[in-house]
Amino acid sequence: MNADLVVVGSGFFGLTVAERCAEELGLDVVVIDRRHHIGGNAYSEPEPTTGIEVHRYGAHLFHTSNERVWEYVNRFTDFTPYVHRVYTNHGGEVFPMPINLGTINQFFRAAHSPQQARDLVAEQAAELGGREPANLDEKAVQLIGRPLYEAFIREYTAKQWQTDPKDLPMEVISRLPVRYTYDNRYFNDTHEGLPAQGYTAWLERLADHPRITVQLETDFFDASQPVSKGSVVGQVPVVYTGPVDRYFDYAEGALTWRTLDFEEEVLPVGDFQGTPVMNYADADVPYTRIHEFRHFHPERDYPTDRTVIMREFSRFAQASDEPYYPVNTEADRARLLTYRDAARGERGVLFGGRLGTYKYLDMHMAIAAALSMVDNTLAPHFRGERALV
Ligand code: FAD
Ligand code: NA
Repeated sequence: MNADLVVVGSGFFGLTVAERCAEELGLDVVVIDRRHHIGGNAYSEPEPTTGIEVHRYGAHLFHTSNERVWEYVNRFTDFTPYVHRVYTNHGGEVFPMPINLGTINQFFRAAHSPQQARDLVAEQAAELGGREPANLDEKAVQLIGRPLYEAFIREYTAKQWQTDPKDLPMEVISRLPVRYTYDNRYFNDTHEGLPAQGYTAWLERLADHPRITVQLETDFFDASQPVSKGSVVGQVPVVYTGPVDRYFDYAEGALTWRTLDFEEEVLPVGDFQGTPVMNYADADVPYTRIHEFRHFHPERDYPTDRTVIMREFSRFAQASDEPYYPVNTEADRARLLTYRDAARGERGVLFGGRLGTYKYLDMHMAIAAALSMVDNTLAPHFRGERALV
């Protein structure tokens, strides 16, 4: 192997590091990934019978207010003018999300002005009197009042966590945004859109550099592979974007994650739900939401008599499941501090990305963090200004 840098993981973090190091620093970079495809969790592919682009690890919507990231990503793909909106089914009725004036007026069968709605929610939120909330349930009531909480948040949250909200830590909801306008745009960022040719085309362009070699189906911990932890660490600088606890053989115990199960179905109808994402707020429906992928790309020429939907179920991850969202219990946080110390002490290895830092990162955050790692650590090192620690 001839490499100046090894990157473990071909998600947005790893590929951004690889592209910058190859193009800007002129380094030869080897990227490995244990999966059979590049792109990490942003990977997508056409469903074979319809050609409809399906996001394999859950729907991915790109949005950012970071001008540097926006300029950078536009080097590799164009974006459609897609604007994300979400609806929710509660009690057999469909409401706009996040909770806004339209939701409130539909729910209370009213025509409140913004101020009247504020007053109503404030009155309902005063239920606890001056008492401090004792659990997530009470915290939520204090934020938005019991009626809206019980309709739109309680059972949905219980499904996401498979836990009664009374037993969930309050930090799970630090805020519950309520908008006192009819604006139901999901994201507030300056820039938003979907990659015009799909996520995988974007990710492939990021990796398409003469100085970048990608080796798939290569696990960093498989010592029989030419590029493995044992053969590389200490020889070549490494950027590791796999799980930090796995790197240290779970010495401090495993960090806990939630995972998702996806149930995909091709239906013989042109349009199943009329919108990309429908949440299911109630406990009697086992899934949290249904994605209908054709609606992410209304500009495409998709078949008009078939559609692809994906039901999403949420649960705590077992060791063999894909880790999706950090649970972040107190025990997790204590373990993470110890792993961070170990990571700092691991000479020549930098830890990054959502798995390497045990943090939920949106794509634009993963890209921004990768650009910072190149600027602040890798570039100074390879220019001979500073050793890598
Ligand atoms: P990943 O994409 O997870 O890449 C890590 C890579 O490392 C993987 O390919 C993995 O196979 C590889 N790897 C791990 N261990 C090893 C090993 N031992 N050897 C070799 N390779 C290894 N972001 C948004 O901006 N908008 C969204 O709408 C959005 N929706 C999301 C929905 C879901 C369900 C999830 C889970 C995430 C979503 N995200 C979204 C976040 C987005 O997926 C992340 O920002 C992105 O994946 C971060 O990239 P990463 O490179 O850090 O990690
Ligand atoms: Na280190």
